[in-house]
Amino acid sequence: MTWLITGGAGFIGSHVVKAMTEGGERVVVLDDLSTGRAERLPAGVPLETGTVLDRDTVDRVLRDHAVTGVVHIAGKKQVAESVEKPLHYYRENVEGLRVLLDAAVAAGVSRFLFSSSAAVYGMPDVDLVTEETPCAPINPYGETKLAGEWLVTAVGKVHPVATASLRYFNVAGAATPELGDDGVFNLVPMVFERLTAGQAPRIFGDDYPTPDGTCIRDYIHVEDIASAHVAAARRLAADPDARLILNIGRGEGVSVADMVGIIQDVTGHEGVKPEITDRRPGDPARVVASADRIREELGWSARHEVREMVESAWAGWQLRHP
Ligand SMILES: NC(=O)c1ccc[n+]([C@@H]2O[C@H](COP(=O)([O-])OP(=O)(O)OC[C@H]3O[C@@H](n4cnc5c(N)ncnc54)[C@H](O)[C@@H]3O)[C@@H](O)[C@H]2O)c1
Repeated sequence: MTWLITGGAGFIGSHVVKAMTEGGERVVVLDDLSTGRAERLPAGVPLETGTVLDRDTVDRVLRDHAVTGVVHIAGKKQVAESVEKPLHYYRENVEGLRVLLDAAVAAGVSRFLFSSSAAVYGMPDVDLVTEETPCAPINPYGETKLAGEWLVTAVGKVHPVATASLRYFNVAGAATPELGDDGVFNLVPMVFERLTAGQAPRIFGDDYPTPDGTCIRDYIHVEDIASAHVAAARRLAADPDARLILNIGRGEGVSVADMVGIIQDVTGHEGVKPEITDRRPGDPARVVASADRIREELGWSARHEVREMVESAWAGWQLRHP
């Protein structure tokens, strides 16, 4: 098979490219480099620069590389920005997916994996979030991911395409410092930024109904996200009737206070007392994946611990902020 990986020059996409090529798969990348970097790609992986919104480009790439499967990772991912620019998010994440699916079906592509997110669940009021937990996104970003899943599933019902929507929980870490996340939108880089600026890390609310009062999340190493894609791609290749919706998480919660403590320890900034501020609107108390279905379906489970995520993310941060 030849896999088209959209968004392959991004943070998660480049890890998926690395894992899939190391696993012996043939891949080609389509990326508009809006947030990605060509240097993230290993030597020998073809990069086509362009947007998934451009049907002519997508048609040409599918044809020129005789693509048989697509891993659609390209997308916009900032929650706050999606609230300010809903039209942009719907265009990039939903219309971009529609154009890509339309082209893929026309080109006879028979396998399609889609990057979804735990944001589809919104504010789940359960101990462990299963794939059956009702989806109720609370921002345009999460809405576009849920609409994307619907579209993928609907296409899989009427066209000969095996499909998988993969709902990532809180992604952190890096396989190598060069592949680290450039953005400062998640807890780990946000704390790095505060600590290296000589400021106390911020914790948004310590009065949640959790053991230490801070929010609990399921952090997952980006290398584990990548290995889950390899497993899902193999499953789709072997099973043309596959219709999968899977959480990718560790199934273990870590509180924000504990995570900040690990980050302070790893970065050598122990002893700085975190500053507790008001809760942020839309932050659920606890979001932890049930990782049962992905283990049953793909025989996959996460291998990396939280401390490894922080250590590898820190190495990347130091490289980018010498
Ligand atoms: N990072 C997370 O914590 C997280 C969690 C859940 C889901 N996701 C999803 O995973 C995907 C990748 O996230 P990331 O963290 O690697 O972000 P990223 O911004 O690093 O990567 C996105 C990549 O897609 C490319 N891209 C964007 N729009 C494009 C378009 N229209 N056409 C072609 N390429 C385009 C960008 O240049 C970039 O290389 C996104 O779909 C995101 O919603 C991310």
